[in-house]
Amino acid sequence: MKNFAAIVLAAGKGTRMKSVRAKVLHPICGRPMLYYPLRLLKELGAKKTVVVVGYGADEVKGAFKDSRKWGKLKFCIQSPQLGTGHALMCASKELKGFTGGDVLILSGDVPLITRQTIKALMKIHRRQGTEGGRKALPVLSLISTLVDDPTGYGRVIRDADGRVERIVEDRDLEASERAINEVNAGIYLVNSAFLFANLKRLTRKNVQGEYYLPDLVALATDQGKRVSALTHFDPEEVMGVNNRQELAKAASIMRRNINTELMLGGVTIIDPEATYIDYGVRVGRDTTIHPNVHLLGSTVMGKGSTVEEGSRIADSTLGDGTVVKSFSVIESSKIGKGVSIGPFARLRPENTIGDGARVGNFVEVKKTRIGKGTKANHLTYLGDSVIGSDVNIGAGTITCNYDGIRKYITRIGDGAFIGSDSQLIAPLTVGKDAYIGSGSTITKDVPAGALALSRPAQKILKDWVKKKGLKKRR
Ligand code: UD1
Ligand code: CA
Repeated sequence: MKNFAAIVLAAGKGTRMKSVRAKVLHPICGRPMLYYPLRLLKELGAKKTVVVVGYGADEVKGAFKDSRKWGKLKFCIQSPQLGTGHALMCASKELKGFTGGDVLILSGDVPLITRQTIKALMKIHRRQGTEGGRKALPVLSLISTLVDDPTGYGRVIRDADGRVERIVEDRDLEASERAINEVNAGIYLVNSAFLFANLKRLTRKNVQGEYYLPDLVALATDQGKRVSALTHFDPEEVMGVNNRQELAKAASIMRRNINTELMLGGVTIIDPEATYIDYGVRVGRDTTIHPNVHLLGSTVMGKGSTVEEGSRIADSTLGDGTVVKSFSVIESSKIGKGVSIGPFARLRPENTIGDGARVGNFVEVKKTRIGKGTKANHLTYLGDSVIGSDVNIGAGTITCNYDGIRKYITRIGDGAFIGSDSQLIAPLTVGKDAYIGSGSTITKDVPAGALALSRPAQKILKDWVKKKGLKKRR
C-alpha cells in the first residue's frame, strides 16, 4: 500500500504481567515483543511510524534507538496513560501533516501478526460496499477473530444485517453480550481524515474511565460511515499478550513457526517441541539438532553439522560439518569447519576456532584463537591465548592468565606440544614445534623446537615404606 502511516501502542504498564519491566520489552524468541510489529511496519514500508510509549519509556526507546535499523521511528510519550484512545491523541500530534492516507494501528502486545494478514486488511479497506444505499469505502477496518474463551477481549457487536456496529470492552459488556465470541484483535486501518476529526469525540464514559480506541467504530457507524472487519481464521496469530501465561503461549507458537520454517528448509530437528531457536538464527541444510538445544541471538550454523542434546549456542558462527556434542555452552565465538566441540565444553566470548580443531570435554576457552587442526581434548583452561595450528594441548593444561590485577597473553606456535598437567604462566610465548614436558610450570619463553621441563627430577628411595614401618597388614 502506498500512502500509510503507522501508530504502535506501547505505553501501557502491562499490569497483568506483574513486572517492573514494560510489557512490550518482555522477550519472545530472543527479541522484545515490540520488535515484531516494528519489523513488520518496516517491511510494509510505512511512511512514518509513531510509537506511543509511557511506562518505562526510556527503556523502550533505548531498545530501538539504532537509527540505521529503525530509521523513521518517532516516539511520543503518553503520560499519564488514559487508555488506547488517549494514546492515539498523543500520537496524532506527531502525524500532523499526514493527510490523504490511512493510519495503520498496531498493538505492541500482539507480536504474532503477519504481513499477509495486514495485506489482507489493506485489501478489505479498499473494497467498496453500500452504506445507507450509497457506495462507500470503509473509514475504518479492523481485524477480529473467533475464540473459545473471549474473556478480556473487546467484543465485536454486529447489527441485524451482520455489519460491525460497535465494540464493547469486556468490563463494559451487558450480560446478554458476554457470550459473543467474536473479539477485536486491536489492529486497525483508519482513514486519516476520519481519525483526526473523531479523536476529540472519544469520551471516558466507561467502567475503566479510559479513552477507548475501539469507540471509533461506534463513532463511524453513528455517522453512517462504513466499517469493515477481517475475521481472521486463526486466533493464535492475533492473540494479545497480557500475562506471563500468554507470553509463554506466544513464544511457543513463534518457536513452532521458526522450527517449521527451518525443517522445511532442510534442517533435521529431532523434537521441535523441545528445541529453542531464536528469531533470526540461521541454520544450514542437513544440520541435525537434538532435543533441548538452544540456538540464540545472532547465531549462524553451517551445513551438515550436528548439535547434540542440551547445548546452548549464543551469538556465534559455526562452520559446515561442525559437531557440538552434548551439554556444551558456546557464546560469541567464531568456529570454523569440521570442528568438534564437547561434550561438556564451555566457550566463553570472543574465541576463534580454526577448521578441524577439537575442543573436548571439560575444556574452557576464553578470548582465545585456536589454529587449524589444534586439539585440546580434555580438562583444560585456555584464556587470552593465541594458539597456532596443529598444536596438541595435553589434558589438564592451564594458561595462568591473571595475576590478580591484569590479564596476560599466552602465545603458542604451530606444531607445539604441551604435555599434560602443565601451567603456562602468562605473559608467555612457546615457539613453533616446541615441547613442554608433562607436569611443568612454565614461566619463561620457550624457543622454537626446544623442550622445556620444570619438574624436579624423579628420586627413588628403595624400601622406604618398610623402613618407615608403614607396611599395612593384609
Ligand atoms: C485492547 C482493546 C480490546 C482488544 C484487545 C486485543 C481497547 C480499549 N481495548 O484491550 O478491544 O480486544 O486490545 O488485544 O483498546 N496502551 C497504550 N496506552 C494506554 C493503554 C494501552 O499505549 O493508555 C497500549 C498497551 O501498551 C498495549 C495496547 O495499547 O500495547 C493495548 O492495551 P491493553 O491494555 O493491553 O488493552 P486490552 O485490554 O488488551
Ligand atoms: Ca492487550
